[in-house]
Amino acid sequence: MSSETVNVDEFQEIAKQSLPKLYYDYYASLVDRGTDVFKALAHATQALLAKISSDPVKVEDFKELAKLALPKVYYDFYAGGAEDEHTLRDNIQAFQRITIRPRVLVDVSQIDTSTTILGYPISSPILVAPTAAHKLAFPEGELATARAAAAAKTIMVLSFSSTFSIEEVASSCNAVRFFQLYIFKRRDVSRQLLQRAERYGYKAVVLTVDSPRLGRREHDIKNKMIAVPEKNLEGLITIDVTSDQGSQFESFANKTLDASLRWEDIQWLKSITTLPILIKGILTHEDATKAVEAGVDGIIVSNHGARQLDFAPATVTVLEEVVHAVKGKVPVLLDGGVRRGTDVFKALALGAQAVLIGRPVLYGLAAKGEEGVRTVLEMLKNELETSMALSGCPSIKDISRSHVRMQCDKLHSML
Ligand SMILES: Cc1cc2nc3c(=O)[nH]c(=O)nc-3n(C[C@H](O)[C@H](O)[C@H](O)COP(=O)(O)O)c2cc1C
Repeated sequence: MSSETVNVDEFQEIAKQSLPKLYYDYYASLVDRGTDVFKALAHATQALLAKISSDPVKVEDFKELAKLALPKVYYDFYAGGAEDEHTLRDNIQAFQRITIRPRVLVDVSQIDTSTTILGYPISSPILVAPTAAHKLAFPEGELATARAAAAAKTIMVLSFSSTFSIEEVASSCNAVRFFQLYIFKRRDVSRQLLQRAERYGYKAVVLTVDSPRLGRREHDIKNKMIAVPEKNLEGLITIDVTSDQGSQFESFANKTLDASLRWEDIQWLKSITTLPILIKGILTHEDATKAVEAGVDGIIVSNHGARQLDFAPATVTVLEEVVHAVKGKVPVLLDGGVRRGTDVFKALALGAQAVLIGRPVLYGLAAKGEEGVRTVLEMLKNELETSMALSGCPSIKDISRSHVRMQCDKLHSML
């Protein structure tokens, strides 16, 4: 929008009516002293409106829109990572260090991005990761996300910390969904959550194992972020989340989650459910081997979106290590820093069966509700399709290790 369209007098009148008197008087006194403050404000407002109404062309555009749309406290809660956020940055930058080796003169007139996870067909290997508190982004919260995932013909993993209940999300629309679980000190709580998820048709349990306690999310501590009521615990337990130190989320996690959980406990989980178990939060070949030995049905390479241990490795840098250890016995998935179709392509080339996205979904939801989430999923799928066409891969199974080059490959070839 050009600056000529600004009618400063009109803007000043609107400001007078809508601003608190204290602010208006302050701005007016600046004008009296020669500063064209209303003109500056009018331009800034117009730029903001133009940005909000512009159509995003890539997933990261939604991040900017979410920042404009959300109160700072909520935006920080979604966007932030642990401590110095080294891993947060590296989750994204590690993808950028991988290049693609395109092959040409392959018939790519038809591209098929469809695949399956645990036997369930999906339109592309991009799932919705479990993330807490969607209502902070949009009033219809997880219901909107669930509908968007269903429309995109993909699977949503519902977070234990959802702001609509297991049952409400199940009733929102017909689709294959998984449920993410933590193990609580009170095992009966985990058992009951799991039973509810089973009863309401969730097809797998995603057990998150990287959170024996909560990572230090310093934005939340600084902002005094208030813990969102745990909808799924209503009527099960009441927790006092007041805390002098750290955030209320830390206080909740420390009081409820079982930090003594060990590999042996996977057997307990297996004994109380018939659902397949995906273990989320594996970052080493040692733990990948143990997970397979423990009998899980799938592994999610994840550092919890860099919200737990700062300086944990960027997920894509350890994907291959995990894939090699697993030896094809169970599917390996990855999340963390996936923002482009080329990122999905790279993860698949390194052996992931699919990826999950966390923040992009939240940003889509905050910016444009259900439609925003649908657009985010569509954008990534379309970008993946383009990456496949331009790399000579008509279908998902054609994407192979030879299609990417990591920095360590260069070193190996020099030795
Ligand atoms: C705001 C937020 C809340 C999250 N809540 C959960 C959760 O409740 N359970 C869980 O297993 N992971 C949770 N995660 C981690 C995500 O499942 C996922 O691992 C991560 O977001 C992937 O990284 P990305 O955001 O870069 O895509 C959360 C992540 C974010 C950003």
